[in-house]
Amino acid sequence: MTIEQVASGDMATHQVKVEGFGTYEVEEGTKLVHALEKSGVDVSHRCGGLARCTTCRVTFAEGEPEMGQVEHDSLEEDGELGNFRLSCQVRVDRNMEVSVLMRASDKGWEPGPEVEP
Ligand code: FES
Repeated sequence: MTIEQVASGDMATHQVKVEGFGTYEVEEGTKLVHALEKSGVDVSHRCGGLARCTTCRVTFAEGEPEMGQVEHDSLEEDGELGNFRLSCQVRVDRNMEVSVLMRASDKGWEPGPEVEP
């Protein structure tokens, strides 16, 4: 995003397609977990976005971004590396197609504490 885009309020957006829900226009840099919630998908985030609970799990059909160290270490520790990604650790920087693996309503949970922007 350029300084001009920020100044003019013309933020770049990307399309996030959520399997079973629809396709949503999402501002660049938005955490994927926030994009999902804003789109009405009750994705779980039981640790509040700290990469600890792994309940915000998603899989990518398209547009999977690189993984950061915190996410990598959390998934490796749980033996889940390669099985899914943590939507609290992914920022939308391209078009994406995802499936949400744990919905709060399916589990009978509240989604979890608010995740920092
Ligand atoms: S790992 Fe807990 S909210 Fe993402």
